[in-house]
Amino acid sequence: MPQDAVPELSDYQPTLADDREAILTGLTAPQKHLAPKYFYDARGSALFDRICELPEYYPTRTELAIMRERAGDIAAAVGPRACLVEFGSGSSVKIRLLLKGLDHPAAYVPVEISRSHLLAAAGEIAREFPALEVLPVCADFTQPFELPATDEPMARVVAWFPGSTIGNFEPKEARRLLEVMRQQVGDNGGLLIGVDLQKDRGLLERAYNDAAGVTAEFNLNLLRRLNRELGANFDLRAFRHHAHYDAARGRIEMNLISLRTQQVALAGTTLSFDEGEVIVTEYSHKFTREGFAELAASAGFRVAQVWTDPAALFSVQWLEAAR
Ligand code: AVI
Repeated sequence: MPQDAVPELSDYQPTLADDREAILTGLTAPQKHLAPKYFYDARGSALFDRICELPEYYPTRTELAIMRERAGDIAAAVGPRACLVEFGSGSSVKIRLLLKGLDHPAAYVPVEISRSHLLAAAGEIAREFPALEVLPVCADFTQPFELPATDEPMARVVAWFPGSTIGNFEPKEARRLLEVMRQQVGDNGGLLIGVDLQKDRGLLERAYNDAAGVTAEFNLNLLRRLNRELGANFDLRAFRHHAHYDAARGRIEMNLISLRTQQVALAGTTLSFDEGEVIVTEYSHKFTREGFAELAASAGFRVAQVWTDPAALFSVQWLEAAR
């Protein structure tokens, strides 16, 4: 990518080493756990792109279909000259679809933890939309970050949070993140968000235990990353991936299961695993419409519009700042 394709990068350089303590705390807790944000190194991001193409993984294609179908309604809700802030930019076709449908967007601010992914995606968008100001921010978007100043006058700030990534946060964190977004967009702003809906267990569990084993690779890549970036010595063949749906909590739980009793060294600490012991690596909450409206309201948003597919698998929702 030519260096001048994206003029400026706001870089907060997140690395795993910054989070060593949090990772150790998670892996020494009675229920071992790792935060899903660590999935997304370059390999993890590429694996996630492959997950999005899987026949079993309905969210991506369903969200895209809703966006295509409702492009006019979405553009009308967002309005002209919006500064679009994408939380967790991917190399996705969704942003192109959105930018093409919107009425003269003023700027595009992708915020992403994986620098390689961010720069590649931002560079492509800058080339494809030469009139659009592209201002990438390399940051962990769960922490407050400063919005870069735009040259173009803009009408409002609109956050874009696709893919139901909100479901990867536990309710309290989801609320906190929505509050951050509410603050970023201000009283005049809005949030366009993809929200996965509760449904049949079989369909959900197949989406997270795909036959080709891509989700398993994605999950195990976490351990590979700990080995490379924190000098751990996980034996990847000694863990297996499994995902199940907890209907009472309305969430998929992704696990890495230890296949034997074993010890692993990580950053000067010895981690002990029993055979069958689980590391929880991700929750993916599925919402009812009412449940999500309540969550949004608790963070200062009002759900103004909800668009779904005919089978009501997934929804795209337009939230406005509540007054
Ligand atoms: C990014 N996020 C919304 C995905 C999900 O469905 O929860 C991550 C994922 N994990 C396994 N497959 C996909």
